[in-house]
Amino acid sequence: MKVIRARTLGFCPGVRLAVATAQKAAAGATASGRQAFVLGQIVHNPRVSARLESLGMRRIDEAGLDGSGKSAPAGAVVVIRSHGAAPEVFDRLRSAGAEIVDATCPRVATNQKAAASFAARGFLVVIAGDRGHGETLGVAGWAPGAIVVSSPDEARSVPGDRPVALIAQTTISENEYDAIRAALLERRPDLVDAGGVCGASRERQAAVAGFLGKVDAVLVVGGKNSANTRRLAELSSSLGLPTWHVESAADIPPELGNFDSVGLTAGASTPDEDIDEAEAALLRLSQ
Ligand code: F3S
Repeated sequence: MKVIRARTLGFCPGVRLAVATAQKAAAGATASGRQAFVLGQIVHNPRVSARLESLGMRRIDEAGLDGSGKSAPAGAVVVIRSHGAAPEVFDRLRSAGAEIVDATCPRVATNQKAAASFAARGFLVVIAGDRGHGETLGVAGWAPGAIVVSSPDEARSVPGDRPVALIAQTTISENEYDAIRAALLERRPDLVDAGGVCGASRERQAAVAGFLGKVDAVLVVGGKNSANTRRLAELSSSLGLPTWHVESAADIPPELGNFDSVGLTAGASTPDEDIDEAEAALLRLSQ
């Protein structure tokens, strides 16, 4: 079997930075006898989460509570992941005495600032993406009155009484963004594009599209709860390529061994080790 890696796959720059920042914060907190927390899951990947847990880093929620419902002690270090967070979350953690290490991806931070600026100028900020996702909740928090829309149908019911500024969740697909944008334009032809899909997401999606005609099947590696990984799998399937989405090499189904060529890709939250192990497991299948 021939395994062809996507020309861009795995950790994006924002996730790589956030994971490195969290590891450094965990080591620093341990060295100074303090507890370290991360707001939510650093990235939607079990291996990365397990590695941070092994360094003593625990999860905390937006209310500042850990898994057992206890507040983080004053002086604890709290890492804000690449998805970012709403300003109230920063305020709540600071007033509880936490030291915040902000690992918000610079690209997400740009969208937060754009959201705040357009809302202050009287625009309705519309975020195209997944309702309830950490990033969309965070961006919405910077823009009072912002709404999240997940489909063109939802976009058609957006109030048309104010100018609209549209911001993408950085990891949605270009197709989803374009469809939501077109539906909003029916309501507000003066729509302002205030922040599109991240270039890193676009590159990973384009690399999957590049598999067409070159491979017989596609393996997507990454967390099942990773929105951007799921979208790579959906895109591949929509192109008519037999596609499998697995979290790790251990989940690779034996039938992939029946294909002569397999395209390998991975979401922006998938570490290099997961990709290397998946490639090795695929090659073993054909031996
Ligand atoms: Fe940042 Fe883009 Fe990654 S927004 S976290 S570099 S997908």
